[in-house]
Amino acid sequence: MRIVGGTPLNGEISIGGAKNLALPAMTASILVDEDIKLTNVPLLSDIGSLSELLTHIGCDVRCNDEHSLTLSTKSLKTVEAPYDFVRKMRASILVLGPLLARFGKAVVSLPGGCSIGPRGVDLHLRALEHMGAIISIENGYIKANAPKGLHGCDMTFPVTTVTGTENILMAAVLAKGTTRLINAATEPEVVALADLLNQMGGRISGHGTSMIIIDGVDSLHGAEFEIIPDRIEAGTYAIAAAATGGEIFLKNCKCKHLTAFFETLALNGVECEEKIDGVRIRRRNAEIKPSDVQTAPYPGFPTDLQAQYTVLMSICDGTASVTENIFENRFMHIPEILRMGANVSVHGKTAVITGVNKLKGAPVMATDLRASVALVIAGLVAEGETIVSRLYHIDRGYEGIEQKLLSCGANVERFSV
Ligand code: EPZ
Repeated sequence: MRIVGGTPLNGEISIGGAKNLALPAMTASILVDEDIKLTNVPLLSDIGSLSELLTHIGCDVRCNDEHSLTLSTKSLKTVEAPYDFVRKMRASILVLGPLLARFGKAVVSLPGGCSIGPRGVDLHLRALEHMGAIISIENGYIKANAPKGLHGCDMTFPVTTVTGTENILMAAVLAKGTTRLINAATEPEVVALADLLNQMGGRISGHGTSMIIIDGVDSLHGAEFEIIPDRIEAGTYAIAAAATGGEIFLKNCKCKHLTAFFETLALNGVECEEKIDGVRIRRRNAEIKPSDVQTAPYPGFPTDLQAQYTVLMSICDGTASVTENIFENRFMHIPEILRMGANVSVHGKTAVITGVNKLKGAPVMATDLRASVALVIAGLVAEGETIVSRLYHIDRGYEGIEQKLLSCGANVERFSV
């Protein structure tokens, strides 16, 4: 993507459905032999990758329109999720819980690491073993069996895990007896998944708190469900508005899903005004005040907005520290913005950023989904031309990013070399 920076972004951006809910909502269709219809599904390559995997195992995935899918696993033909599919996207691990719950067995390739860290799935596996699954790792594959079915139990996650919580929700909803999951993730996407499972006939309570109770039922039924707006997409464009000194209305953004984030923006001197159908973000002329951030599980500051926020701090009026507490290696955007003139030093989990007057455009390379969009924001504020390559990272999580930026006056174009 070629970006010529320096133009304040002004206009309205429609926020799409949340990628990190659409993915588990799709795998939830494995739990039932009736149709699951999802609406407000974002048009992203990750959704396409999971559709391919589900189709491979025999799920019928029908596109009703660009943003609506109907999934049916009436005629599932295998419980094996091969490496070729799983390596493309870690979230494929979300088929493990549902396959075990419905069929009592699953063979799922280990996801392998990704660029932001090893990202094990040990917590998922230990929890499933507590529920009666027998799990072994053979030749890079997770082989799981529950010949007598899964049974409910009390479990505590030593580390809060989003997809771990989601896998256990989907395993426990059909287990015999009650499961109490302590130190569960409380992200809005987890809450919405539990709402979907309840709409399918599940009996889940406490979702949104750190203790979720799931009373297993014998079977579930079909449902129709709307995907909630993507809070990370919304936060990303909020930072783009703040960084370029413009004003953007984020249509469909739910303020309550981004409390810690909007409180931080307010400390930066950015106005965040909640409206009926979205949030207005405005930063006119005034400087960007520094504010330290520590990423944390929800409702703390989201790790998925850390890279974007680091770019905002790179042009702040002072010095700020950003500490990444969730992932081991999520500072890969920093060497690239250093080449654009940012002043950042990294000490273990903490980046110390001293604002500079301006960044300078440069050719930069994307490494992961959120780092790549951080580089786009850097290009939007930099003087001159920035070329961001390896845009396939961005297409995993940002539907129509050029169109949305162009509609707010950005000077961007995508080209192939
Ligand atoms: C989910 O990943 C999201 N992905 C990530 O979004 C997000 O960054 C992350 O949660 C944290 O909020 C989806 O929902 C599809 P975790 P997940 O399990 O579930 C460690 C994006 O950009 N851990 O909550 O994989 C892990 O290494 C993506 O949209 C174990 O050690 O994250 C990490 O340090 C990136 N063992 C921490 O826990 C396990 O078994 C939290 O990870 C599981 C996790």
